[in-house]
Amino acid sequence: MIIYKTNEQVEQMRQSALLVSKTLTEVAKMLRPGLTTVSLDKMIGEFIRDHKAIPSFLNYRGYPFNSCLSVNDVVVHGFPNKNDLKEGDIISVDIGVILNGWNGDHAYTFAIGDPGKEVMQLIKVTKESLYLGIEKAIAGNRIGDISFAIQDHTEKKYGYGVVRELVGHGLGRSMHEDPQVPNFGKRGTGPKMKEGLTLAIEPMINLGKKDVYTEDDGWTVRTKDGKPSVHFEHDVCVRKNKADILSDYSMIEKAEKANTNLFTA
Ligand code: MF3
Ligand code: CO
Repeated sequence: MIIYKTNEQVEQMRQSALLVSKTLTEVAKMLRPGLTTVSLDKMIGEFIRDHKAIPSFLNYRGYPFNSCLSVNDVVVHGFPNKNDLKEGDIISVDIGVILNGWNGDHAYTFAIGDPGKEVMQLIKVTKESLYLGIEKAIAGNRIGDISFAIQDHTEKKYGYGVVRELVGHGLGRSMHEDPQVPNFGKRGTGPKMKEGLTLAIEPMINLGKKDVYTEDDGWTVRTKDGKPSVHFEHDVCVRKNKADILSDYSMIEKAEKANTNLFTA
């Protein structure tokens, strides 16, 4: 069942989404070689609680951390750990909050130092595909229009692997609502979108093949071929002529550019 939001509810969701963007901005300021992901996760939890919100991932279906920190060949749902981040690593930082009862949930991939041209291009193209998907999130279009736009730009144009096992989703009082938003599919298929539909759109794109597996911890998703994977996610509201992006990458990008430890695509 799809739950459409009133304008007032969308404004509440914008506040939740913006708190995630602000947390990701703090992350962008902190990232450096030598930092452990477990210390980053701790900072993320504290920042969210200091802003009168709850880190929504913690205890979600038993998930044991505040955030998902996925390095290199980890696609999503990476556990924070005691390993130092190294120059040339890429890290997807995925954060969720509940603020005043509403969920924000989005992600950004950073490069610590230089991961090489190929990987920088994967980062750039995955982010582009997210915006191409968002362009299709308008009333009257179908979910498959978003899916097709993402797959067309990444798989068809660049030969990257689009992960099939994990998808975007509706977002609201619950983190995962209907409908599912796959990053692959056919134009003109799937549920028709109406104004007030709020979605988390989240391409997960592999440099190599699309195949992934889940580790014995029950969470960590890795590429089968060991090649890197990139993940970007925005929270959006479907409108008549143009989707309203509730999250805000501009503050994250500003901090990313100012941090000399980070490479930007
Ligand atoms: N942002 C992710 C999603 O959309 C991660 C949630 S998994 C969790 O599904 F367990 F960490 F919460
Ligand atoms: Co999500």
